[in-house]
Amino acid sequence: MLLRLVLAALCGSSSVLAADCTRETLQAGADSLVAAQAAGNPSLLKAADGLTYTENFKAGTLKTGILATALKIDHSRSSLDTTQCATYTELISASGTKPYVLGFQMHFSASGGIAKVDALTTAKGDWLFNATGTLNWAKKEDWGEIAAGKRDSRAVIQAAADAYCDIFANKSVVVPWGKPCARLEGGSYTGNGGPNDSCNVGIPSGVALVDRRYVIDETVGAVDVFLSFSGIPDSHEFRVEGGKLRFVHTLTVMTARSGKSKV
Ligand SMILES: *[C@@H]1O[C@H](CO)[C@@H](O)[C@H](O)[C@H]1NC(C)=O
Ligand SMILES: *[C@@H]1O[C@H](CO)[C@@H](O)[C@H](O)[C@H]1NC(C)=O
Ligand SMILES: *[C@@H]1O[C@H](CO)[C@@H](O)[C@H](O)[C@H]1NC(C)=O
Repeated sequence: MLLRLVLAALCGSSSVLAADCTRETLQAGADSLVAAQAAGNPSLLKAADGLTYTENFKAGTLKTGILATALKIDHSRSSLDTTQCATYTELISASGTKPYVLGFQMHFSASGGIAKVDALTTAKGDWLFNATGTLNWAKKEDWGEIAAGKRDSRAVIQAAADAYCDIFANKSVVVPWGKPCARLEGGSYTGNGGPNDSCNVGIPSGVALVDRRYVIDETVGAVDVFLSFSGIPDSHEFRVEGGKLRFVHTLTVMTARSGKSKV
């Protein structure tokens, strides 16, 4: 806090970003995203002027994107990155007419408005898609706050994510597997919620996971990575506890690559 005040005094306007990027601002922005999605009304978003929007890594508009469709929100969870002024929101709509699982990275402007929204949308036809399964498992997991003295640094959290992402192309990489650890991929779960769940249960070879964009929240040990999975738009989100992987959630937009519309 003192450092921020000193920086504010020294650097003038560039410090505005740090000063305004509070957890409250980020949470309010993430809440406005969930409200917009529930209503199918993108104007509910706390947007900054000139907001840019991508969907499945392609430039788009809010009006023609997923936020214009009202969805029943069965579950949402947001992590807040006060260092980058960014958020990640996982959103599950399992009980509506057309189920979806969505991931949103958002970046905020110095004034606290949302300047950039990057959405990933998965639905029937995407990798292991089963929103009911996603919802069931996601609700059982504990992504709650980690006691201040037990939190990992941003570097440790990101390193755990990077090791997991790197092993797809390099089997010599040492991944900090936690025990237990479970992977929720689409709606499919590698564990059963028990103490012996393992994430080290098979990873494809020879795939480079590149163009990684991170949102990190140390308070909950979470890092979300938007990446290109051999050209397929993908999100890998991790919960890290004590430097080790506890949960992995993936969204893989198969329908974006084939150009096929979701059915
Ligand atoms: C989806 O997940 C639910 C809950 O885990 C399960 O009961 C159902 O059989 C799954 N559906 C398919 C098509 O796999
Ligand atoms: C593979 O990972 C090992 C262990 O981290 C590292 O020493 C090596 O340089 C990596 N190889 C490549 C080609 O990146
Ligand atoms: C976990 O694994 C241990 C050792 O193999 C075993 O004794 C124990 O019953 C397992 N626990 C569960 C809940 O499966």
